[in-house]
Amino acid sequence: MPNKGDDYFYHKIQMFFDKTTLKNRLKSMEFIYLRLNAILDKLEIDLKDRTVFEFGSGWFPTMPYFFKYKFKARKVEAFDVNQHFKRKTVLEFNTIFSKKDNCNIEDGAKNKYGLPNYIEYFPNFDLVLQDIPIADIVFSRFVLFHMKEIDVIGFCDKIINQYNKGTYVIHFISPSDLVQHNDNTISQQEFLKYSKLEW
Ligand SMILES: C[S@@+](CC[C@H](N)C(=O)[O-])C[C@H]1O[C@@H](n2cnc3c(N)ncnc32)[C@H](O)[C@@H]1O
Repeated sequence: MPNKGDDYFYHKIQMFFDKTTLKNRLKSMEFIYLRLNAILDKLEIDLKDRTVFEFGSGWFPTMPYFFKYKFKARKVEAFDVNQHFKRKTVLEFNTIFSKKDNCNIEDGAKNKYGLPNYIEYFPNFDLVLQDIPIADIVFSRFVLFHMKEIDVIGFCDKIINQYNKGTYVIHFISPSDLVQHNDNTISQQEFLKYSKLEW
């Protein structure tokens, strides 16, 4: 489908079929936070007062909140090629996150998207086509495997060429077949049976 129609239907279909509650989403993302925490501990990386650039943030500012409130990052910038964050949902999410993680999410009401200070959202940002901002940490979760191989390579080149030595780059990917997530009769590595051309 042409890009505009494609995005519109993608949003509508996801909103209609996705009945997961915000509480459950936060709970499932806690696993990622714990994994990340373990990795950072092992590598002795402290995110306190660092700037973080998350790309492909998705529907909720979950990781930005973990970066700010748990890891005490100074500033988090969340980028996405789509505009997923909705003010109403973010404000609801703020209440759930504040209660669960016992923190005070300040100033959410004043922000266009309901986000607290030092978390900025940049929708309609295509990291393949646009310049990426400088940050201490680059993070993504479940994004790279949605991109074309050539774009992933281009993105990695941008990071290597533009970023200062000492920047940490952390990508979570799922090396499994996404079709399998909704069909457990096939293997998690189903995609390997296709040639590159067929794929
Ligand atoms: C599967 S979602 C993951 C969302 C979130 N990181 C999570 O873990 O729940 C992939 C996200 O990457 C975004 N995305 C895909 N290609 C992108 C690009 N070239 N530039 C920026 N964002 C992109 C999509 O819009 C989508 O929000």
